[in-house]
Amino acid sequence: MSDNIILIGFMGVGKGRTARSLAVKTGRFIVDTDDLIVTAVKKKIRNIFSLHGELYFRELEQQTANWLEQNVCDTIVSTGGGFFMVDNLKKLGRIVYLHSSVEAIFDRINRHPKSKTKIKKRPLLQDMEQAKRLFETRLPLYREVADYEINIEFRDVDDIVDEIVDSLQLQ
Ligand code: S3P
Repeated sequence: MSDNIILIGFMGVGKGRTARSLAVKTGRFIVDTDDLIVTAVKKKIRNIFSLHGELYFRELEQQTANWLEQNVCDTIVSTGGGFFMVDNLKKLGRIVYLHSSVEAIFDRINRHPKSKTKIKKRPLLQDMEQAKRLFETRLPLYREVADYEINIEFRDVDDIVDEIVDSLQLQ
């Protein structure tokens, strides 16, 4: 077992922020699957979607998952909101699902000082009604693949990280 910690969850839930704190707290390295893809193809996520379509992006996520399986261990992996659909997810490490209600996620994004940029860079957040339906479709799927679910709503990042460290016995 690679003993990576794979953070999954909906767009804007705070996977990146949680991953960074978790990495600091546990002394592990951190990688972000979207960053790996952007570096590999030298294009922004929204340009990958607009130039090549979502299916191509999902293929890039699968290639990233294959690479992680072969090359990465003892690392905190922050993922894009749809990365959990790769076929070897369970081989990558322990899966932690960060849960929040969709209303709280949208509220958090809208109140962020850089909310416009945050929305612009996410092709699947352009229509909030569609995004809400996507959340509802994915929720049972996130729960099904998760080894551990943590409710992050109204909690600060230190508190969230402490719960993950204790529950997964990371120290
Ligand atoms: C996606 C989430 C995004 C990014 C891409 C697709 C999704 O990452 O991978 O826009 O399908 O939910 P974040 O979850 O970091 O926003």
